[in-house]
Order: sequence, then structure tokens, then C-alpha cells
Amino acid sequence: MNTTVTNPIRARGIRKAFGPLEVLKGVDLDLASGEVVCILGPSGSGKSTFLRCLNHLEKPDAGLVELNGEPMGYRPEDGKFRELSGRALQKQRATIGMVFQRFNLFPHLSVMQNVMEAPRRVLKLSRKEAAERARRLIERVGLAEKLDTYPAALSGGQQQRVAIARALAMEPSVMLFDEPTSALDPELVGEVLDVMRSLSEVSAMSMIVVTHEISFAKSVADRVIFMDGGVIVEQGKPDEVLSRPTQQRTQAFLRRILE
Ligand SMILES: Nc1ncnc2c1ncn2[C@@H]1O[C@H](COP(=O)(O)OP(=O)(O)OP(=O)(O)O)[C@@H](O)[C@H]1O
Ligand SMILES: [Mg+2]
Repeated sequence: MNTTVTNPIRARGIRKAFGPLEVLKGVDLDLASGEVVCILGPSGSGKSTFLRCLNHLEKPDAGLVELNGEPMGYRPEDGKFRELSGRALQKQRATIGMVFQRFNLFPHLSVMQNVMEAPRRVLKLSRKEAAERARRLIERVGLAEKLDTYPAALSGGQQQRVAIARALAMEPSVMLFDEPTSALDPELVGEVLDVMRSLSEVSAMSMIVVTHEISFAKSVADRVIFMDGGVIVEQGKPDEVLSRPTQQRTQAFLRRILE
């Protein structure tokens, strides 16, 4: 009997340099199903680059990412890996939802149209199916009354919630969040974190969240990772890493952001 459970994400030895600048120096990460991992670290430590390597927006120089047991961005052929492109890559990438710091909604499309676009184009859902799915997800992020509104008429927090609904519309098996609240006014942060919290608690979504929201990490994360200089310096249970870090670099960073 095969009892092996495939992790949604398995990354091994991820390296990435931009010219002479070594940004990732061999990063490993396993994300278990339903697990929430928060990544913290100073500016320039490679957090965004790492997330972008996970969904092959950035091609690692070395190492391998597996998504649900399949090599991300490649297909095995004659004992070699051949890089995917076009539709095949787009389809694989669709199983990873990504939400960025800046809401990247289409400005010329309404909330409904923003959420329906990728399921229509990539998954080839009928208009009716895509609309039903979109309506359900928009309600779920608390924006039922904004279906026909355009992004410019939404607050930053509302735009970010639409961005989450839009990612969920592809029914991803993993969600990646790159500082989803750091561009928001403080009073709008909570509504976005609440949606993310419910995604974890109600839907058991597997998530990697780059964030400096310490209280969110403490209460939602199963594991916290501290990255610096392109490596994982320390990781563990939120309480361990955030309240009793063992590494001097983690201690210094936390002192800085908590002061
Ligand atoms: N496409 C690129 N070309 C050249 N350098 C890049 C590129 N992308 C990132 N870098 C550099 O790689 C380093 C790591 O960047 P990255 O965005 O991954 O850091 P980060 O940890 O996400 O930082 P922040 O907290 O500021 O978002 C930085 O020095 C950045 O300038
Ligand atoms: Mg970043």
C-alpha cells in the first residue's frame, strides 16, 4: 500500500543569482497539505525571489521545485528535464495562486470580470460556470455588493480581497502571498488578514505568506521561517521563532520590526 502523501510544494537547493548578486544560496522548503508557513526577513533577503522561483516566474539556476509531485516548469523527457512554456506552463502555474503587494487587478474590468477572466481563458469554463464561481468567491471575501464595481472605485483592502478571490477562482492547491498587506493603510490590513485566516481555517488551504505581520504569523502560521542573505537562518513553531529565536540575526531583525 502506498501511504506516501505528496506535499503540495517541495523545493530543494534553490539557487538564483542576478549577475554577480547571489540572491538565493540553496533554499529547501516542504509545504505540507493544509500547512501555513510565514516567511520573514529583511529587505533584499530573497523572499520574493524565492516565491517567484516556486511558480517559475523566475527560473532557478539550480535546484528543483516540485508541485504536487511534478517538477515545476519542466517535464521529464528521455531522462532529461525539458522546460515548459506557453500553455503547458500556464496550466501548471494555474494550480498556484499568487497575491502580490500591489493589487494587480485589470483596471478596465469590473470585479466580476476580473475574477472570471482566467477561469474563462485558461480553464475554458463557460460564461455561466465562471460567473457562478466568481459570484461565490466574491461573496466569500465579503464584496457581494461590489460585483459590478471597477477597481479604481475600491479601497486598497477591497482590491486585495478581489485579488484573493481572483486567485481562488483557479482552484489552486497552494496560495502564495507576497507582503499582501504592506501597501495598505493600517486600518485596511485586518480585513485582508481575516480573509487569509479564514482560508486557512475554513478551507485548510496550503499557504506560504511573506509578511511582517507578527500577530498574524503567531496566530495563523504552523511554521515561521526567517530568511536572511539568501538562506533560511531559522525556522520552527511561531512561538519558538518569534518569541524565543535562537539565532542572533533573527533576534536583531525582530527587535528592529517590533520597536
Ligand atoms: N530581476 C532582478 N534583477 C536583478 N536583481 C534583482 C531582480 N530581482 C531581485 N533582485 C535583487 O535580488 C535581491 C533580493 O530581492 P527580493 O525581491 O527577492 O528581496 P525581498 O526579500 O523580497 O525584499 P523586500 O522585503 O524588499 O521585498 C535584491 O537585492 C534585489 O535587488
Ligand atoms: Mg519582496
